[in-house]
Amino acid sequence: MSNRKITVQSPGRINLIGEHTDYNLGFVLPAAINKYVTVEIEERNDELIELISINNQQTYRTSLSEIHQSTLHWPDYALGVVSELQKANHSIKGFSAIISGNIPVGAGLSSSAAYECAMVFALNEVFNLGLTKQEMVQLAQAAENNFVGLQCGIMDMFASMMGKENHAIRLDCRSLDYEYFPVVLGDFKIVLLDTQVKHSLASSEYNTRRKECEIGINLIKQKYPSIQSLRDATLNMVNDCITDITVKKRCTFIVEEIERVLNACTLLNEGKLAEFGREMYATHNGLSRQYEVSCQELDFLVNECLGYKEILGARMMGGGFGGCIISLMHKDAIDNITGRMASLYKRNMQKEMLVYVADIVNGTNTINKNSP
Ligand code: GLA
Repeated sequence: MSNRKITVQSPGRINLIGEHTDYNLGFVLPAAINKYVTVEIEERNDELIELISINNQQTYRTSLSEIHQSTLHWPDYALGVVSELQKANHSIKGFSAIISGNIPVGAGLSSSAAYECAMVFALNEVFNLGLTKQEMVQLAQAAENNFVGLQCGIMDMFASMMGKENHAIRLDCRSLDYEYFPVVLGDFKIVLLDTQVKHSLASSEYNTRRKECEIGINLIKQKYPSIQSLRDATLNMVNDCITDITVKKRCTFIVEEIERVLNACTLLNEGKLAEFGREMYATHNGLSRQYEVSCQELDFLVNECLGYKEILGARMMGGGFGGCIISLMHKDAIDNITGRMASLYKRNMQKEMLVYVADIVNGTNTINKNSP
């Protein structure tokens, strides 16, 4: 009997609006896009875990009983998934995995979440673990939090696993209830402009923002004990309870941003794309000035977008300090505008800007399988 073998692909994600709201238990509006991590897994008859990265041209081997972080870093996303499966007492055997992908790393398109989702999905199939998609999302997040070490929220994994063609997902990060919203853009396209920078601050400042929000919640709780997260807070509560200027700015942004997502969903439903675009600009403004997770490259590109009537809205996307901006651009103007912006970016920032036109696709799925 041949061993079970499966190939799974998991997409990267964009987020239309709702940044840094996931770990504050608010709403987000992400979607899966047409860039993927692909994992081909074959079960083995021994305890070995063999990981082959096509992109890095490296192989890493360890055994099921020796799951530690690796100095190569790229194996950690797979090992983190194995570690979380073991913690939850799922019985898996050795396996060989070939990992490849075309999601640019460090661009804020969640290549790591896609990788973790592809791994957990493939292992679930090969070893018949019986996990639901939602359980796999949570396990992938736990792998990132506990093994890789970034205290990210649930948005990236949820979007990669649960994506639906031509729909965005309005996810309530408190209850994990979700609703698919059709993304009907007419003559407009989702265009991502990649700054090609990832400042080293990204993960430390991310964890700092989480702490600042927690400080804010604890202050609010002293006066309003029923408040469990910034999701439940109002601007009045923030103003009433927080005096520290930095903490106040952070919390104000989150409360406003959660409100913006809900408003943006209504606008999207009503086809009011120009107003939707204005909310995107407002989000950028808040991320840059109140939450302070932007950087000069991102600000430069968003600022340029403001000058074009063919662009309805733009903002930095994801954790911040680099990666992409997301914009809504008229399809006939894409070549012209991005060409001009790339040369301006080069002149002012001395870097190349990359352009990706994103299509919204389905989430994690099997693309090939042998079931002996
Ligand atoms: C990163 C994290 C997500 C989310 C965003 C900001 O992408 O992984 O969980 O917090 O930043 O919205």
